[in-house]
Amino acid sequence: MSFDYTPFFRSDLAAPAGRWGGFPAYNFVGGHNDAKSVPVDDLMASAAAVLAREGHALATYGLSSGPQGYRPLREGVAIQLKARAGLACTADDILVTSGSLQALDLINAALIEPGDTVILEEACYSGAMSRLKKCGASYIGAPLDGDGIRIDALTAILEGLKAKGVRPKFIYTIPTVQNPTGSVMPRARREELLKVAAAYGVPIVEDDCYADLIWDGNRPPAIKALPGGGRVIYCGSFSKSIAPALRVGYIVADWPVLSRLLPLKTDGGTGALEQMVLSEYLANGFDGHVTALTRTLQGKCAAMMEAVNQHFGSAAEFTAPKGGIFLWVTLPDAVDTGKLFKAAGAEGVAINPGSEWSADAAGGSHRLRLCFAHPSVDSIREGVAKLAEICHREFGVPVRSANVQRGGS
Ligand SMILES: Cc1ncc(COP(=O)(O)O)c(C=O)c1O
Repeated sequence: MSFDYTPFFRSDLAAPAGRWGGFPAYNFVGGHNDAKSVPVDDLMASAAAVLAREGHALATYGLSSGPQGYRPLREGVAIQLKARAGLACTADDILVTSGSLQALDLINAALIEPGDTVILEEACYSGAMSRLKKCGASYIGAPLDGDGIRIDALTAILEGLKAKGVRPKFIYTIPTVQNPTGSVMPRARREELLKVAAAYGVPIVEDDCYADLIWDGNRPPAIKALPGGGRVIYCGSFSKSIAPALRVGYIVADWPVLSRLLPLKTDGGTGALEQMVLSEYLANGFDGHVTALTRTLQGKCAAMMEAVNQHFGSAAEFTAPKGGIFLWVTLPDAVDTGKLFKAAGAEGVAINPGSEWSADAAGGSHRLRLCFAHPSVDSIREGVAKLAEICHREFGVPVRSANVQRGGS
């Protein structure tokens, strides 16, 4: 007999979770990675080596490295950031977190009070927006172009806020392989962003978890690496470059910020075994792995774009992503992707409805995000064909008639 806790739950508790029902047949949601690309053998070898050498250090919280995380991992991350993002930092500037989601939670906990305003990108990571909402902050979506945040539009937003006496708590940006659009902000735009942020006295939160996965390998320097980057709090993660289930991310910030985040991280430390294995692996195979993973993802991206073109035709518009794991698709206004999400979900095709990835939820209701990293190429082809059929049935889009060639048939 279970006890009825209902009267004991706090009154503002979130709605109850549904039981997990397993993955859908065609899984285009979330940030899952390519399963075959997880470097299992190398991770096993790394685990064996590091445990044989240092396994007994697991006896203490934080190993022998203190609350910022396993020091050799932080040293390895610093080396990677210097080489890949031009970001000079040391292990002392890094806090290892349980995924970059915890990084965002810690940053919000340190900075956000109810009523605060944050500027983010008009198409934005839903996990960042839902967290800000939960903290009682409001956000404004800055318009994007193919190079990321439009500086003229951002300036207008900042000017408008200034006129109302509002200084935003920070500008949240995903500059390198933006989620969901897949754009990469060039260096010049990063410099402009820093200049505008400085002019209005606003900090920047740079969320860079996809930055290793750029098709042409041309990763610009991190915003934090550029002159004036002291105002930037930088977050990274191994979720997209290795595997999300590891739950290892990190924050790079100066000590006056890190020292305020540390007391908020009250979980006894991020999983030490994952940190140890990753640290070992970073020095032994990570670079080659990322190159191979990026090629695989690029192939799947091509398959996804081809399938969307084939089955939706001119009804679907998208810009080819420059890297990452998502395709951001715009359908005609008549399509409500919230409804499409339900109809497709009932038939085993899972999509992310655009309203959840848009600062202006209503404005994004005819868009959708498709993750191509996890499904196989066959599953991408079949799932997109099925999605187009369902969309046609529900909304008459894509249009199909005797005179219009039916994609995929
Ligand atoms: C932009 C962005 N930030 C943060 C996260 C959270 O990633 P994790 O906590 O797995 O590092 C995600 C996951 O999809 C993301 O897309």
